[in-house]
Amino acid sequence: MKGNEKLIAVLNDLLADELTAISQYMVHSEMSENWGYPKLHKAIEKQAIDEMHHAEWLIQRILFLEGMPVVSKLNPIKIGKSVLEIVTNDQQAEVGAIHAYNSAIKVSREAADQSTADLLTQILKMEEGHVDWAEVQSSQIEQMGLENYLANQSEGAAA
Ligand SMILES: [Fe+2]
Ligand SMILES: [Fe+2]
Repeated sequence: MKGNEKLIAVLNDLLADELTAISQYMVHSEMSENWGYPKLHKAIEKQAIDEMHHAEWLIQRILFLEGMPVVSKLNPIKIGKSVLEIVTNDQQAEVGAIHAYNSAIKVSREAADQSTADLLTQILKMEEGHVDWAEVQSSQIEQMGLENYLANQSEGAAA
């Protein structure tokens, strides 16, 4: 089904955001593993996998709308140098994603494409879950101190 050109361009922008997030989170997840924080590693890895699903769904939708998915474009990737920077950078990325999905939902509605709006809303809810996770980490670091937070993240590191 031929889709709205402007909407297809917006979906490709979201796809670039998702592909960027996958790369950033994969590196952050593996840095956490490398530092011996398996809980942090698992949590960030799960987010990277969520972003991969988002990229997949966007690609499916762009193809359905007879557009060409662009997978060669990445935005600047912001790798943190510490756990605090990782959490902060990922939180900023998720806040950006929430803005981007909200404005893309508006474009979908303007193009009278409710089904795309529904898909984007489904993804938006997951991004809200991601920002919530990052906010919890920031609050815990602030309240219990970085050292206590990190001690919790290294639990079960015997393997
Ligand atoms: Fe995403
Ligand atoms: Fe996300």
